[in-house]
Formats: sequence, C-alpha cells, structure tokens
Amino acid sequence: MTSNETAKHGPGGAGTGAHGAGPDIDQETLLQHEKDTLTHTPVHLMELEAVGKHYGNIIALTEVTMAVDMGRVTCVLGDNGAGKSTLIKIIAGLHQHDEGTFKIMGEERRLGSPREALDAGIAAVYQDLAVVGLMPIWRNFFLGSEITIGRGPFRRLDVKRMKEVTKSELAQMGIDLRDVEQPVGQLSGGERQCVAIARAVHFGAKALILDEPTAALGVKQSGVVLRYILQARDRGLGVIFITHNPHHAYPVGDRFLLLKRGKSIGYYDKKDITLEELTAQMAGGAELAELAHELEAMGGHGELVDQVQAEVAETTGQTPR
Ligand SMILES: Nc1ncnc2c1ncn2[C@@H]1O[C@H](COP(=O)(O)OP(=O)(O)OP(=O)(O)O)[C@@H](O)[C@H]1O
Ligand SMILES: [Mg+2]
Repeated sequence: MTSNETAKHGPGGAGTGAHGAGPDIDQETLLQHEKDTLTHTPVHLMELEAVGKHYGNIIALTEVTMAVDMGRVTCVLGDNGAGKSTLIKIIAGLHQHDEGTFKIMGEERRLGSPREALDAGIAAVYQDLAVVGLMPIWRNFFLGSEITIGRGPFRRLDVKRMKEVTKSELAQMGIDLRDVEQPVGQLSGGERQCVAIARAVHFGAKALILDEPTAALGVKQSGVVLRYILQARDRGLGVIFITHNPHHAYPVGDRFLLLKRGKSIGYYDKKDITLEELTAQMAGGAELAELAHELEAMGGHGELVDQVQAEVAETTGQTPR
C-alpha cells in the first residue's frame, strides 16, 4: 500500500497566464497533458524532491517529495507542527529550502520572495486572509491591480469595468453574491475564501495553494469551499490543498502527502488508498487506541472517551477493550 510511486502527470505546456486574461486552460492543452500522462517524460507543474528545511537546530522538514500538476489537486495532510506551513512557505517564496530540489515546469528554482512566486504563477490563499474588511468586494478583488482609464491627470479608476469583471468572475466560479459593492467584512469565512480563489484564478495563477481553508468553517461552508477547489481544478489549475481533515481531503484530492514531524509518512495516488486508510494513517490508529485506554485508566468517561473509542473503531475496525 505504501507507494511513493504515484502516477506521473505531465502538464504538457504552459497554462495561459496573462494578467486579467481569464486563465482558462484550453481543451487542447489539457488533452496534450492527458497524452503526456499516458506516454512519458513527465514535466510537472511543480516538483519537490527530498526537500528539507531547518530553522537553526530545528528540522522543520526533511526528505519531502511531491508533485503538483495542472488540473489536479494535491493534498498535504498532517497534524499540528507536521511541517505543512513550512512546506507551503517554500513553494510560495516566503522561505527557502536548504535541502533537495524544487522545480517549476522542470526548471530548478529557489524563490526569493512571494513576488517571485506570483510571477511564476503561484498564488497562495492563507487562512487569515489579508482582506480589508470595509472595502467593497470589487475593490478587494482588484487591490493592487486596479484597472484605470484615461491618461495623465485624467487617469482614474474604471469602477464600472472592475465591478463587471468581479461579478462575472465570481459568477463563473458559481459564486452568486447579491452585490459586489458589499463590504468584504460582511461575507462569511467561506465566501471570503471563495473570493480569494476566484481572484487568484482571474489574475492568471497556474498553481493555487490553500492553507487550511476549511479549518475554521462549519460543515456547510466547508462544502462550499471544497466545491470551489474543484472549480479551480476544472479550470486547469494545479491545486495544493492543506488540511488536517481527511474527510475534506479525500473527496477532492487526486494525491495525498502525509506529513508527520517534518517527515513524509506516505504519498499516495487516490487509487492506492481508501478514506478509511487515510484516516487511520492520519490519526495513527495505534496511538488513538492507546489514548482511549489511557483516558479510561484515568477514570475518564463521557462524551470525549466515547468519541475517541468510536474513532478507534472507525479507523482500525476494532472495538477497544
Ligand atoms: N520560524 C520558525 N523558527 C523556528 N521553528 C519553526 C519556525 N517555523 C516553524 N517552526 C517549527 O517547525 C515545525 C513545523 O512547523 P509548521 O508551522 O510547518 O507546522 P504545521 O504543520 O503548519 O502546523 P499547524 O498545523 O500547527 O499549522 C514545528 O516544530 C515548528 O515549531
Ligand atoms: Mg500551519
């Protein structure tokens, strides 16, 4: 079951990435991508090989290997401190790796800043989104990349156009907001994530990194965000979805990287792992069983113990004594 040998998919050509050009990757490119997948010489959109990162004496990440492809979702799973954020910081240009290789479109890279990552088509959406709460949605959408009309002293914001584009981009992602004039602060956490995803898609991202976008959301809102992850995938983006919830990862993921204390404990294609196996790997079935015993031995009872036991039963298929 342990397979480091995941199917190799080659993107087969650069995605269209022009600013504001609506980056839908055309059918031909996708078809070529599928062909390359079936043949050989895979060139991944991004590829990490044996990547590692130290902070002084602390080994935050070591020997991590994974690939990201167009029109695929790569999930990174792991508990607190597993190294998930460190990994995406390397990909998003905030930190640099000090071991292994990081390739973008087959070329070895070391990104010096988030700007460099953006120029390479890599967009990251963070949990605590940098949005300006009082600004209208359309202003947030275009923040830093405003459309203007006129020249010299007559140059001004093309408000009408920006509102139209925002509305149509959001509609294309299936997001129906009543009014793009509404302040972003009034949106729910899930809707904000969706606006950020639509923004990245519009501005030509080829790769989209989502750091725990569903962590603070309820079931329904999580479902909405998961749907937009699939929309981004269907528009040809390579998505990296970071989460600690296998139930969120499994339905949308094509491959799964499991991290534990900075190390990869598994890298699977979807066909090689079931949701139950993924959950068991994540939770550490044996550790969970031990925890259940310990809680009982300490005289614990009630809901939490029941819950842990239920999880043990679910992940290991055994009822704890
Ligand atoms: N700037 C830093 N300096 C020193 N140690 C760090 C730094 N950033 C992260 N670490 C350490 O590296 C390890 C991995 O941290 P990281 O933030 O990548 O984990 P994570 O998987 O994102 O966890 P969480 O789920 O809590 O966000 C941790 O042990 C952490 O303490
Ligand atoms: Mg983190």
